[in-house]
This record gives sequence, C-alpha cells and structure tokens, in this order.
Amino acid sequence: MRNPRDFGKPLALGAPEPILEIPFKPSRMIHFFDPSNEKMVAKLPDLAAKSDILLGNLEDGVSVDRKVAAREGLVRIAGEIDLGETALWTRVNSLESPWVLDDLIALVSEIGDKLEVIMVPKVQGPWDIHYVDRLLAQLEAKSRLDRPILVHAILETGLGVVNLEEIATASPRMQGMSFGPADLAASRRMKTTRVGGGHPGYRVISDPDPDNPDAPRPTAQQDPWHYSIARMVDACTSAGILPFYGPYGDIRDVEGCETQFRATFLLGCVGAWSLHPVQIEIAKKVFSPDPEEVRFAKKVIEAIPDGRGVHMIDGKMQDDATYKQCQVMLSLAEMLARKDPELAAAYGFEPAPVA
Ligand code: GLV
Ligand code: MG
Repeated sequence: MRNPRDFGKPLALGAPEPILEIPFKPSRMIHFFDPSNEKMVAKLPDLAAKSDILLGNLEDGVSVDRKVAAREGLVRIAGEIDLGETALWTRVNSLESPWVLDDLIALVSEIGDKLEVIMVPKVQGPWDIHYVDRLLAQLEAKSRLDRPILVHAILETGLGVVNLEEIATASPRMQGMSFGPADLAASRRMKTTRVGGGHPGYRVISDPDPDNPDAPRPTAQQDPWHYSIARMVDACTSAGILPFYGPYGDIRDVEGCETQFRATFLLGCVGAWSLHPVQIEIAKKVFSPDPEEVRFAKKVIEAIPDGRGVHMIDGKMQDDATYKQCQVMLSLAEMLARKDPELAAAYGFEPAPVA
C-alpha cells in the first residue's frame, strides 16, 4: 500500500513537486527521429513546424555503434535547435540494457529543462516505473529542475498488458502509454512479421450453407489488436493519462496506416507515432476531429444550454450522455484550432483575437 498523501510529495529532497493533473496539449503525432542521423537532424526545424511532438529515439532502430552518438546528438539538438511550441520527448533504451543509466543521467542533467516526457520501452509492471520515478527525482534534484519530467510507458510485452492498470497508476509522473505492436507480437509469440495493422490470416468465417455446402463461405478479416488497445485506453483514461497508438511499419501503405490510426482514434487514443513525414500528415488528418462531426457537436451544445433532458436534433436523439460526447469532440477541436488556423476555419470557429 502507498499512502495516497505521499503521491503529491517529491521522491528526493530538492526534486520538484509532482504534478497531479497531466496537461493535455496537441498530441496527434509523436514523430520519431534518430538524433545521430545528420540528414534527419537537418530537417528538424521543418518537421517541428508540422508536428505536435518530436521524439529523439535512442532505443530500437538505433544501431549499437550509434547509441552514444544518438544520446550526444539529442543533447546538442535540444541546446541548439529552436523547435518552437513543439514538445521534445525521448525514448531511452530499455531498462535491462547497458545504455539506459547513462541515457537518463546525461539527458536529465544536460537537457532536463527541455525534455517534457521520457518514453520507457518494454515496461513489464509498476516496478519498472518506480525505478525510473525515484531515479528521475534524484537527478532532477541534482540538476535543480523546477518541473518534473513525465514518464510514458510503451505497452509491448504480454506481462505489461496483464499489469496495465498498475502501470498506469504507478506514479503521478505517468503521462501516458503507447501501444507497441512489434515487440508485443514477439513477446506473445504471435505469428506475424508486420508492425501494426491487420493480417489476412486473422479472420472469421461464416458457416457452410446447408443447401450448398461447397459454395464459398464469406469470411472477414479481424483486428488482432482490438482487445489490448481497448484495455490500454481504459487503463489510461481511468488513471487520467493519455493513450497513444504506436508505429505502423509499412510506410508505403498509407491507406493501411490511416485505417489503423483511425480505429485507435475512435477507440479513444489521442495520437500515434509517425516514423516518416508522410505519417505526420496521416496522423494530423485522423486525430483532428472531422469538421462535420465538430459542427454537429457545436449545434447540440448550443441547442441544449444545460446539457439535460431528451431532444431531437437533425433526427438524432440527444440526452445528457450524448451532450458529453459532443463536449469531448468540441473541446478537442477547440484546442487543435488554437494551434492550427486551417482547422479553425474548417470547424467554422472565429479566428483567435490578436493579443
Ligand atoms: C514499438 O516499439 C514496437 O515494438 O512496436
Ligand atoms: Mg518496441
């Protein structure tokens, strides 16, 4: 048992006080870059203008001989490149790796004031978060940081799925979770080499027609991720933190990517990873609410000022619950419109007054 009163206290003397409400900012895409790749780094100012979050990746995808260069590159980038309003995150190496301790020490002490969130891969249970939580508090105290760095877990092991709720509530630092279909598939011994999306072999089939037993039987592909993503959304929302879909590996399959992203948006995810600039645009399209739905939500809210009772609007029943659904849609649209004038126009919102 942990005394709930201790949740609001720092875990090291001199560390900043934990924050108890996770800020919800535009988070439609977490665009991954390798900080040791000069070509990618040169594009960062341009990518920052298009992305909600940029993430310097130190873990999988960065080869062993580039691990130190990637860490040092991220320190340099945070010090030298102006990313404007775009948040800077990192994914450190996994907790059993030989690099993670130096990743955390170097990043917190050198650029702790610039990093908003640290993504921790392959989280298995709350003990992984507790380890990072205390270590971050010690490092923050040492560097005299005045706000806590938040932690984001990747859900990518079978045990992690079993321990979802405990991971989500392990620390007030928990900002959110991302779904990692590649490592999760490997951890569960799922027989797929794809990163996200469906699989033509995972399907249901209708019964044979008794009058025509040899006739082809209709079959339909199913979603192998539905159960785990839905559980992640429930664990995150019940803990007041944010769920994200992770990577879609087939960069050329833009339709597949859009479909995977949209399924998770509809289930409650706030954003997804982008592994290539083309996926930034897909995430922007999918995770910004549809203008038609936003206009309808606005109409419902304006028509029912107290949000109560039963009403018919455009032939659809509206009540206290649908009013709340409309609030979810409208408040997301309003937040994104403040950042993006094109969206504001598409939603029919007044331009923000010039301060
Ligand atoms: C992401 O890290 C994944 O393993 O899918
Ligand atoms: Mg992974």
